[in-house]
Amino acid sequence: MSITSKPFGQTADGKQVDIFTLTNNNGLVAQITNFGGIVTSLSVPGRDGKFADVVLGFDDLDGYINEHPYFGAIVGRVGNRIAKGKFTLEGKEYTLAINNRPNHLHGGLKGFDKVVWTSQAIETAEGPALRLMYTSPDGEEGYPGTLTCGVTYTLTNDNTLKIEYDAVTDKATPINLTHHSYFNLAGHDVGDILSHEVMINADNFTPTDKTLIPNGEIRDVEGTPMDFRTPTEIGARINNDKDQQIKFGGGYDHNWVLNNKDGQFALAATFYEKTSGRFMEVLTTEPGMQFYTGNFLDGSNVGKGGAVYKHRNGFCAETQHFPDSPNQPNFPTAILHPGQTYKQITAYRFSTK
Ligand code: GLA
Repeated sequence: MSITSKPFGQTADGKQVDIFTLTNNNGLVAQITNFGGIVTSLSVPGRDGKFADVVLGFDDLDGYINEHPYFGAIVGRVGNRIAKGKFTLEGKEYTLAINNRPNHLHGGLKGFDKVVWTSQAIETAEGPALRLMYTSPDGEEGYPGTLTCGVTYTLTNDNTLKIEYDAVTDKATPINLTHHSYFNLAGHDVGDILSHEVMINADNFTPTDKTLIPNGEIRDVEGTPMDFRTPTEIGARINNDKDQQIKFGGGYDHNWVLNNKDGQFALAATFYEKTSGRFMEVLTTEPGMQFYTGNFLDGSNVGKGGAVYKHRNGFCAETQHFPDSPNQPNFPTAILHPGQTYKQITAYRFSTK
């Protein structure tokens, strides 16, 4: 195993950015930059032993500095949507940027995906690791409290990309960190993800209004296109526009209420791509997972090696607290108080079938 680094460029305000290459004992390779904590490539073998890069992304830093749909990034301070960019905490109303009309999305105009994190490469017994740190000042993007965050990526020798998050604050604040890789287990440049077979370990999901804000209900997946309790192709029901939820999302762009209730590290979902044989399991301590099928991709992002990322060419499995939690009293709380430590662990484990 090894971890090496090289310069990846500079931000407009002159900050030096690096890119790290993590290689495990089986030759899997993850490249991660400290700009946004972005996973820029992830090379894993298929059934025939041939490696493919299974995440969408860009060849250079500018691709990530320019506007793009959160390819590979760490998303924060609050991932997902906050209705109308407003919430009240300890009697005070806070106003955030409306960057996804009419709502706030993924931390605002300059979220954790657009900041430079300090970095430390570590060789652990489990595999090569990269520790990233970022201190978000009080009031940044409208959020209260100085939030000191750490994210540790480990590419383990059992072929898992493990992400451990931690944070502390000096004032009560909402927090909902997640990871936004777009996966295509056939390869990032191969085409749509509709034939992947998906299992989501969830009996319920959180239905939304047409702006993708939950209506507060926890709804049974039974009899709906959201029922992935047995492995089902993504494409099987994704165009069922008689289903109002599918219509609102333009496909899947919803939060599943994972059966994992008590914060244990447990299986959330599996993804299988038959042609290559690649199989990915997602494990998490989080109560929810946004399964997003790249419905907003439209060919306008030209990525690695000139790949054109079209409609549904990648999917995201964003383990998280539920969308709009700060405004939804019956959802698990996403408020971190001084003296508490926020922790979340998510792992993407690769094998073949
Ligand atoms: C998340 C959201 C989607 C979209 C993407 C980024 O998955 O739920 O609606 O905003 O991020 O394009």
